[in-house]
Amino acid sequence: MAKITVIGSSSMDLVVTAQKRPNKGETILGESFKTVPGGKGANQAVAAARFGAKVHMIGCVGDDSFGKTILDNFNKNGVITTYVEPVTHCETGTAHITLAEGDNSIIVVKGANDHVTPKLVEKALGVIRDSDIVLIQQEIPEETVEYVSKICKEYKVPLLLNPAPARRLKEEVIENATYITPNEHEATLLFQNEDLHTVLRRYPNKLFITEGKNGVRYYDGKEEVLVPTFQVDVVDTTGAGDTFNAAFAVALAEGQNIKDSIRFANRAASLSVTKFGAQGGMPTREEVERSL
Ligand code: RIB
Repeated sequence: MAKITVIGSSSMDLVVTAQKRPNKGETILGESFKTVPGGKGANQAVAAARFGAKVHMIGCVGDDSFGKTILDNFNKNGVITTYVEPVTHCETGTAHITLAEGDNSIIVVKGANDHVTPKLVEKALGVIRDSDIVLIQQEIPEETVEYVSKICKEYKVPLLLNPAPARRLKEEVIENATYITPNEHEATLLFQNEDLHTVLRRYPNKLFITEGKNGVRYYDGKEEVLVPTFQVDVVDTTGAGDTFNAAFAVALAEGQNIKDSIRFANRAASLSVTKFGAQGGMPTREEVERSL
């Protein structure tokens, strides 16, 4: 069983669906409103657990009802929460999501996720050292991402950095990470004014640019490869990237080669968009394997 540690955000997603997005200064009527567990870190932890990994989550929730719901959801999905700390006098992170015109727009209020500090991570060093792979994203403080990248390098534990949402990365963090998985928009921000094909060649088998319904692009040391994804009827794309990252991490941790790991992850992500909610459509391992 692959041992995975996820260090990241846990949020409550407040999702409104509407025919269109309101313009500046405009009020429109929506169609529905739902509250579902989300946050990039939590989504990746839940997905990895559904793919059969033993998953430790390192994160924070607030001392409110959202925090309790998120903890219950981790437990329900078999994610180990020894290092998910409730923060007093602090609200749980929230993501304010509009689903309209076939895509989502998201505003994240970090709340307790800002308390996912190096100090919290220090408490879990034993678990990190014992992991087959560590997954991290960027809805937590920058200094934590930098700290974790150093620790993973020191412990020789592979680190998968999903640089979402985008912010510039120090060269040292890029060097320390084993795998980096931006989408096209994030890659453009990360490597400003650079041609992405040239950037891919600089990071063979390390940089994986996810291109939505096109698939995933990387450089394998000899040539640029595009691993196509699977075409499906899309209901909600929220959490597709998280499903991809978790599945990719689990497959790599189990010793699958890069191309097969991407194929597995592409399939998982394509299934995830066929249902509502970041975690609502995340498939189990059996569902992915059956559909492959
Ligand atoms: O990646 C999807 C996630 O991003 C949502 O669940 C939301 O919480 C936002 O952080």
